[in-house]
Amino acid sequence: DKGNHRHFMQKEIYEQPEVLSHTLGAFVDMTTGRTRIPGGQTLDFSSVRRIALSACGTGYYAALVGRYYFERYARIPCDLDVASEFRYRESPLGDVDLALFVSQSGETADTLASLRYAKGEGLRIASVVNVQESTIARESDVVLPTLAGPEIGVASTKAFTCQLISLAALAIHAGVARGVISPERELELTRSLAEVPRLANEALALEDTVEALSREMATKRHALFLGRGFSFPLAMEGALKLKEISYIHAEGYAAGELKHGPIALIDDTMPVVVIAPHDRSFEKTMSNMQEVAARGGRIILFTDAKGAASAGSDMASTVILPDMPEILTPIVYAIPLQMLAYHTAVQMGTDVDQPRNLAKSVTVE
Ligand code: M6R
Repeated sequence: DKGNHRHFMQKEIYEQPEVLSHTLGAFVDMTTGRTRIPGGQTLDFSSVRRIALSACGTGYYAALVGRYYFERYARIPCDLDVASEFRYRESPLGDVDLALFVSQSGETADTLASLRYAKGEGLRIASVVNVQESTIARESDVVLPTLAGPEIGVASTKAFTCQLISLAALAIHAGVARGVISPERELELTRSLAEVPRLANEALALEDTVEALSREMATKRHALFLGRGFSFPLAMEGALKLKEISYIHAEGYAAGELKHGPIALIDDTMPVVVIAPHDRSFEKTMSNMQEVAARGGRIILFTDAKGAASAGSDMASTVILPDMPEILTPIVYAIPLQMLAYHTAVQMGTDVDQPRNLAKSVTVE
């Protein structure tokens, strides 16, 4: 049932404040502000030397944010592969003690094969999964549930942001276990996470602004998405969302890679989506943005008030999100990117919930 929404995708985008709050509740005791492993399971990070993360598609981008989280907040080095590579790469696992998989469906063939490979190598297996009765959940030692509820739209939206909030809480939990996050800092970080539902609502309120931008996007054949640091995985996720449902060719790049190739594509017709909250990467991203502007690129900037004030006037449009702590930006900035893809596809009249050639769950390799 789509309720009063036109598509399941739109309904699922709007469910995010609620399902993010449910998911967070599994990983954080909201009365004490302490993180926990859901369902009374144990996952001891104190002796984990290295984590191998693996997933497909949007799950892979969530895992990429996860890697940034684990490295920043828990100081645990991470490896990351798309599952179709991990399963065949026969990588020497060395000091990897934990394999962590991310999957909405829990049935993705390559992710499952990677899980079985890691198990065969004697690793402990944890999975962030949305479907609790799935094969991946069953075969994991530790199940880290996202409580996004059923996701019908082929383009993943609410499952992605729920994966991010789970990984953020998990990284904090790991940081505490390793003594790199103090109990006070844990409370501060979980208080920040508790702001996500409110911030997600504020992001949803940008729908009309984003819809207006989608009109120009819908006239394009190509688009570039740029971001740095926590926003780099989002650039790739934003591009994936757009290409999946609007069939516009979109590429996501680390902003610093611009000069190493993609800048050749910039002319005065090229839309360039720049994701740049005013965080530690901001100044660097701005200099990349100026390189785009100097070549006439049509910049759509997603930032906050501080970022907008210092970004100059090179943009075709600026979307201003609320201020928020750094750990939250991937979660909240995902929402306008989902809406941009959604409204562009609606303008173009494609089948938003069932895009051509795609299946919700990829159970063959
Ligand atoms: O069910 P999974 O999370 O394992 O699925 C992985 C990918 O197939 C999935 O994320 C796909 O990329 C989506 N269509 C993205 O919107």
